[in-house]
This record gives sequence, structure tokens and C-alpha cells, in this order.
Amino acid sequence: MLEFKRHRRLRQTANLRSMVRETVLKTEDLIYPIFVIEGETNKKIEVASMPGVFQISFDLLEEEINTITELGIVSVIVFGVPKDKDEVGTSAYCEHGIVQQAIKKIKQVNNELVVIADTCLCQFTNHGHCGVIEEGIVLNDPTLDLLAKTAVSQAKAGADVIAPSNMMDGFVAAIRHGLDEAGFAHIPIMSYAVKYSSAFYGPFRDAAHSAPSFGDRKTYQMDPANRLEALREAESDVLEGADFLIVKPALSYLDIIREVKDNFSYPVVAYNVSGEYSMIKAASLNGWIDEKSVVMEKLISMKRAGADLIITYFAKDVAKWLNEGK
Ligand code: PBG
Repeated sequence: MLEFKRHRRLRQTANLRSMVRETVLKTEDLIYPIFVIEGETNKKIEVASMPGVFQISFDLLEEEINTITELGIVSVIVFGVPKDKDEVGTSAYCEHGIVQQAIKKIKQVNNELVVIADTCLCQFTNHGHCGVIEEGIVLNDPTLDLLAKTAVSQAKAGADVIAPSNMMDGFVAAIRHGLDEAGFAHIPIMSYAVKYSSAFYGPFRDAAHSAPSFGDRKTYQMDPANRLEALREAESDVLEGADFLIVKPALSYLDIIREVKDNFSYPVVAYNVSGEYSMIKAASLNGWIDEKSVVMEKLISMKRAGADLIITYFAKDVAKWLNEGK
């Protein structure tokens, strides 16, 4: 008698499969990115390289937040598209900056929504780099003060979580210190702990108008070839006071998500970045793949790899699909 294992026993019916399913995706896992444009009214501009993703003017924010809330999404991450940019990104930390105004407004519309502020300078500097520049070099330490200032201004506006994304060394320490000094010891930091220098950010740079005007980000973002460096980055952020660890991008870095999950006891966040969104959109608009199935499979793979939360431009669609399935 031939002996072998019958794995198919557990796959016979939908109910049986659902009973042995190891990974689930919930609406609460999703964080939706919002882009708010300054100085415009009644504008909803579709990002050319990201069909279905819009930059919206401030006055349309209320409607957007109501839609998000009705879908059951519990968290958003806010990006600003400012009117004015300068050498040192002043509009990132000014009290009435577009991000600060947007945060305040969102909290007025739905105080329960967890509002995450992306803390970086690249959208606000005229050179598009994430820090202060001197002779073509992005300076580390002088940038830290500006990041701390930005984080404090965002917390003052009502941000629930600060998410620094600029990859200067010591940014978590500087922001933690700044927040604590300003009376925001209770505000958590969701650090972009492991952020690779990735070509998958291309469409985001269209959306946020944040492409560097010269050079690239390779002196501060990580080399995609490195794994141990990711662990060093995560370790220093944990020591400096990070409360969540982001791995970015997600899909080409599922191995790194797993490593960070296994090596640290903190919630891990996968950033399903713009290029990953655009590739799926392009293929599905061409009729080459089934969008819903592919998106759900991709997001489940991030959770299976160890992500607790996922920042994704698909959040609204996924929330809709999950609600329909209930
Ligand atoms: C800003 C920032 C970037 C992204 C999020 N925050 C772009 C970058 O580093 O150039 C990328 C997000 C995406 O591609 O979806 N530092």
C-alpha cells in the first residue's frame, strides 16, 4: 500500500478552508495615505502614474474623511503638497503648514481616526532632498533639529502618531527628545526604520512633488542588497525609542519583514509603496490580471511575512471588499 499524506483533506470546502486559514487581513490592519494640496480649492487631481489616487484640496478633506470612516478604516497617514518650498523646508514645521492644518481638520471631522503624520522634509525643500544641504551633501545632524521641530508641530496640531521617514541617523532619538520636552511623551513614533533606496517610489514622487532635483537618496536610504544592515537600523530605532517599525517597500522585501518581526518585539508595518500599487493597477487596467484577487493575495503575503499593519493606496478598495465579504 502506497503511503503518503493527504493534505487535500483540509481543502475540500470553503468553510473547512476558512477554519484552517492561518493569516487574516482585517480593515483595522490598513493605513490609508492622504495627499493634501495647499492653496487650492475644490481640486481633486488624479496622480497620472497612480490611477485611483488623488491629491485633494483642503476643502475636500471632510468628505474624504467621512468616506474613509464609513468604510471602517481606522487610520490615515498624511502627506502635504505645500505651496512654498525653500532650502530648509520651512513649510514642514510652520504652525499653519498644510500638514498641520490637515491634521487639525481631520481630527475635527473624526476624532477617533488615528492620524499618522509623515515626518520628512523632501516635500518641503526646493531641492527635494530629505535634509539640509551644504555643497551638495545632505547634512545629518543639522537636519535632526528640523525634524524634531516638524514632529512637535504635527503633535501640536493633533497628530496621534509621528512617522519619521527621512533616514538621518539619530532621527528617532531627536524626535523622541523633542516630543518629550514639548509635553508629548505619550505620542508614539512609527519609525521608517528600514527604508531602502528604491525605484518603487517613483510614482509617489509625482504625487508628492518630492523628487530630488539632483543626485539620489543613496547616501541616506539603504542599499536593496543589504539584510544585516536592516537589522542594525531596526535595532538602533528600537533603542532610540521607536514604538512601531516600518519596512519599506514591502513586496520585494518580504524576507526583511520576516526578519524584523522575528528579531524585535514591536509592531511591524509594511509600506506597500506607490510603484507596487502602479504595477498592479497598470496590469489590471490592461485586463491582464484580476485586480481584487491579486491585491488580496499581495496584502495577505505581507501579513504572512510578519506585518501587523499595512500602509497601502489600496486601503479603500480592500475595506470595501472586506465589507462585502462579511
Ligand atoms: C518621503 C517619503 C517617500 C515615500 C514616503 N515618504 C518617498 C521617498 O523617499 O522618496 C514613498 C512612498 C511611496 O512610494 O509610496 N521621504
